[in-house]
Amino acid sequence: MTIKNQALTNVSLAPFKEIRSSAGCFVHNIILKTGLVLERERMTKYRLLYSTVEGNTASFVDKLTQVARAAGDELSATAIGDESDYQEERQPYVVLVPTYLTGGTGTGPEVTEIFTNALGDYIEFADNQALLRGVVGSGNRNFNDQYILTAKRYAAKYQVPLIGDYELRGSVREAEKIFLAIKAHLGA
Ligand SMILES: Cc1cc2nc3c(=O)[nH]c(=O)nc-3n(C[C@H](O)[C@H](O)[C@H](O)COP(=O)(O)O)c2cc1C
Repeated sequence: MTIKNQALTNVSLAPFKEIRSSAGCFVHNIILKTGLVLERERMTKYRLLYSTVEGNTASFVDKLTQVARAAGDELSATAIGDESDYQEERQPYVVLVPTYLTGGTGTGPEVTEIFTNALGDYIEFADNQALLRGVVGSGNRNFNDQYILTAKRYAAKYQVPLIGDYELRGSVREAEKIFLAIKAHLGA
């Protein structure tokens, strides 16, 4: 017998089975000691890669994690920096990129990327680029025309959409909005 989405109070549980589909969805079948099977709502695990130097992006990823949990989903988020080991990504993902530019005051080619190149190298490793679905940009509006320019460059280079932006550590409200965009672009 199967009961869907039952609250789990005062029940004795056997170990639950987690089944993963190709889209990253998880279905929890919780088998009670009585033999009943509780089917829980599908939960999706969204894959994010990000770069962070001063911690602002990491803080925004924490906000996204809380928003995802509140929605019954999960994030698998990995910071990519110079020390990161490269690995082949196995499911579609979105990148979050802060802006670090030097050497100019405008948007021309004389403006050079600093600090975020490791994430670009990671995207270009093996077939990882084929699974990139979008870019979230962050920066500081004090940089005027250069605001989120690194993310715009990533989007143009890898031919994926810029799906959102926020300043510095961002707000919970922005995290809610960007989480919806991430869901839409990761196809769940
Ligand atoms: C050296 C330096 C250069 C920056 N250049 C830009 C820029 O060109 N455009 C922009 O929007 N923000 C720029 N920023 C702001 C950062 O993108 C912003 O502080 C971001 O939140 C940093 O993310 P992180 O703390 O995760 O490293 C710059 C910050 C620093 C320290």
